[in-house]
Amino acid sequence: MQRIGVLTSGGDAPGMNAAIRAIVRRAWHHDIEVVGYEDGYSGLVEGAYRELDNRSVGNVIQRGGTILGTSRCAEFYRPDVRALAAQRMVADGIKGLVVIGGDGSFRGALELAEEHGVAVCGIPGTIDNDVWGTEETLGFDTAVNTAMQAIDALRDTSESTGTNFFVEVMGRTSGAIALYTGLAAGAAGVLIPETSEPPIELAKRLQRSIGRGKRSHIVVVSEGDEAGGAFGVAHQVAELMDIEFRVTVLGHTQRGGSPTARDRIIATESGVLAVDALVAGTYGMMAGMQHREPTLVPLADVVAHRHSEAELDKLRLAMELAG
Ligand code: F6P
Repeated sequence: MQRIGVLTSGGDAPGMNAAIRAIVRRAWHHDIEVVGYEDGYSGLVEGAYRELDNRSVGNVIQRGGTILGTSRCAEFYRPDVRALAAQRMVADGIKGLVVIGGDGSFRGALELAEEHGVAVCGIPGTIDNDVWGTEETLGFDTAVNTAMQAIDALRDTSESTGTNFFVEVMGRTSGAIALYTGLAAGAAGVLIPETSEPPIELAKRLQRSIGRGKRSHIVVVSEGDEAGGAFGVAHQVAELMDIEFRVTVLGHTQRGGSPTARDRIIATESGVLAVDALVAGTYGMMAGMQHREPTLVPLADVVAHRHSEAELDKLRLAMELAG
């Protein structure tokens, strides 16, 4: 294998650039050229790529987003479009492909492999940490730290004024960011899509806490919570009890920013493993993390599972310590 491609797909996540850097530099050690496709699968379909040499990935390890651009490419669901992409790869002499993204992106990679024999390897990159077969996805740790720091700042005004805050974090179907942020920030409540705590139960808990003398509360709500995100929950709770509250939606601030050390290290180790797997002829795998070690898992298994279970023990712990 003399030439491989890399693309980033779906929502961008801090750490993607660190992974691209590791892929390019590891490939260089194997005497392999790397091209970077622009804007995810769109670049693959259009044959839009640039050569990535060692210098082109200098000074990117600390940058959020993705230097290659990303997109959610709906047309890649079409078999004829995938066939076109595979033909272009052959014409350009590109023998392998590393896909950095979430499980939707991996479905596309697997189809490319099964239908056209493209040698692929995935690296899980999404702030949601909702990919089966890996303990961590690129960007999750950074997103949790971003949300935690925002809540630390809100806590100052919350404590000073006695105002309750309902803070919405990202996660349409996964409560992982809410769970970890709630635990790290000492939230009084954490609402996630995987469980259904009725607002009346939350209101009762807040009431008991007020009875114990607590002046203000921070409740973390996943955007995908069935009660309708932070606005929905706040209004329902406020109808049940007389409280002053504000809603803060952290939104896409969680997707950007410089990756944490943890995300840079995961990105680096996964990038190296992905290239080594392609070189060794081990195709159709995902380079994820298990027991904090970079580990290969078949992509077919990854996409066959919806996503990791919510860590409900962490939810119980957060609530037990909420005070
Ligand atoms: O990248 C994952 C994610 O941030 C989700 O948590 C969120 O629901 C979604 O992407 C929003 O992305 P977009 O605004 O690009 O649709």
